[in-house]
Amino acid sequence: MSQLFSSISIGNLQLKNRLVVSPMCQYSSINGFANNWHLVHLGQFAIGGAAAVIQEATAVCPEGRISDGDLGLWDDRHIEKLKEITEFIKENGSIPGIQLAHVGRKASGNKPWIGRNQFSPSDPQGWQTFAPSAIAFHTGDYIPQELNIVAIERLIEQFGEATKRAVEAGYEIIELHAAHGYLIHQFLSPLSNLRTDAFGGTFENRIRFLVEIVKRVKQEITSQSLWVRISATDWADGGWDLQQSIALSELLYELGVELIDVSSGGLVSYQKIDVGPAYQLPFATAIKENTKNKVATVGLIKTATQASDIITQQQADLVLVARSFLDDPHLPLHFAKELSVDIPWPKQYERAK
Ligand SMILES: Cc1cc2nc3c(=O)[nH]c(=O)nc-3n(C[C@H](O)[C@H](O)[C@H](O)COP(=O)(O)O)c2cc1C
Repeated sequence: MSQLFSSISIGNLQLKNRLVVSPMCQYSSINGFANNWHLVHLGQFAIGGAAAVIQEATAVCPEGRISDGDLGLWDDRHIEKLKEITEFIKENGSIPGIQLAHVGRKASGNKPWIGRNQFSPSDPQGWQTFAPSAIAFHTGDYIPQELNIVAIERLIEQFGEATKRAVEAGYEIIELHAAHGYLIHQFLSPLSNLRTDAFGGTFENRIRFLVEIVKRVKQEITSQSLWVRISATDWADGGWDLQQSIALSELLYELGVELIDVSSGGLVSYQKIDVGPAYQLPFATAIKENTKNKVATVGLIKTATQASDIITQQQADLVLVARSFLDDPHLPLHFAKELSVDIPWPKQYERAK
């Protein structure tokens, strides 16, 4: 019997099944504001039976965006439309989550369907990027400015302020983006963090930025569940790796993080990834087996049996799916049918069941 449609409690939350929409940037915002695209895009997954819907990387300050089309939560005025989104998701039986992010040296970029280029700080579409150390991601990218201690402390505060707004907007899951080579990951990895102060060097120093953010964010959380997405490895010699991910996950558990969302890579342009079906699952399973954390796996999980086996064999607690949800927003309804599990459909859609 498939366990994919069994419920699970994570902190105060009760998820009705194990299929969750993975955060996906839409590059469709102006000045960080959500609009009807985001409402319909995210809302469709609630109708389609997802247990939770995690909204795209949402920037805690304007400089933290990948492009000028990213969502943001640095202004109280962002809250109103987001509230509409969370209300719709809840009305339709799912749980709204938000991923809070700062992309550090990977900011100031173009919308991917236009180009993969980074804009210079003087370009009207670009801005100065920031990072733990003044090292660019790609050769040819603009050199980021090294953050000083005052700026680091301000960023920790901005994660806290964004969390306060996210709580007010009605999100029930707050996920911190510490993966994919973005700012928090840039602090974690010795390949991008060459600092010699309290935020660089030893493992304890490199994780300090994330730890301080978690502590600050926890001050704003009431009943919400705090998750952290990590890249379990940089797929590069001398970089962040699984052992460090396990040690970090243990600490995050003690700090009250309720789930580790396990992705990988994105830190350096010369990474060597072995991509294949569910290729990131072994990292999630290793974290699950070596810590007290609940874990989510993500990446190239496309079929009902694949997702079902992962949960039934207890290799992970949740399966996050990105691209296959874009292809089929009703994926959970269809996976259930394929696995002969009877789950309720929205009453408006019952004639299609
Ligand atoms: C259009 C698109 C946008 C994405 N944006 C984000 C994002 O905002 N935050 C994030 O952590 N991952 C992002 N990702 C990565 C996905 O969440 C997911 O980890 C990855 O696509 C692998 O899952 P999949 O094989 O099911 O697509 C994005 C992926 C896609 C396809």
